[in-house]
Amino acid sequence: MRPPRAEDVQKAYEWDRDPELAAWNGRPPIRISLSAARRDYLARWEDSSVKTFIIEAEGEAIGLATLYDFRHEGCELGIKIGPKTLRGRGYAGEAVDLLVSYCFETLGLRAVRGSTLSHNIRMQRVFEKCGFVEVGDGSIISRFDNKRYTELFYERRWDS
Ligand SMILES: CC(C)(COP(=O)(O)OP(=O)(O)OC[C@H]1O[C@@H](n2cnc3c(N)ncnc32)[C@H](O)[C@@H]1OP(=O)(O)O)[C@@H](O)C(=O)NCCC(=O)NCCS
Repeated sequence: MRPPRAEDVQKAYEWDRDPELAAWNGRPPIRISLSAARRDYLARWEDSSVKTFIIEAEGEAIGLATLYDFRHEGCELGIKIGPKTLRGRGYAGEAVDLLVSYCFETLGLRAVRGSTLSHNIRMQRVFEKCGFVEVGDGSIISRFDNKRYTELFYERRWDS
């Protein structure tokens, strides 16, 4: 895991334009130009209220994770593995374990929260194997297809 760099813009852009990844995140693929996206990414990656990490494997950037919405001594975690062929190989599990340790040991937080669509079995499995517990559910309209889905909320507490 490492901070994002200017050379990661191209991959972040490809991932944000991928309809499948967008659907899992409940939003439409981005349609802005690469140069407009570059400005957005570089601004976001400098924003101290959001912590973005590039997930690397064998020297390649393969995914992105963010910690955001810092409040009540906790934060929200989001993650994606970009290339389809690299999903299901344990990378997210390892990344989430590292992020949770960073949140508790370095940032001194007491809780890490996350959510996923109820049909995203892989993400649920990642939360479960990283010690998160399901704490509730809700209903959301996906901005990807304007359909209603169930969203599951997870939490990992420092003392659990
Ligand atoms: C969800 C995501 C981040 C998980 O990352 P990953 O590297 O694939 O996750 P891992 O390999 O660490 O763990 C996946 C788990 O799901 C299991 N799994 C994989 N494919 C599965 C499937 N089709 N059905 C059920 N379980 C599946 C794996 O066996 C693994 O569990 P295990 O470690 O007990 O064997 C990744 O698949 C991804 O980026 N998906 C698209 C974007 C997305 O969904 N982001 C999250 C939005 S909330």
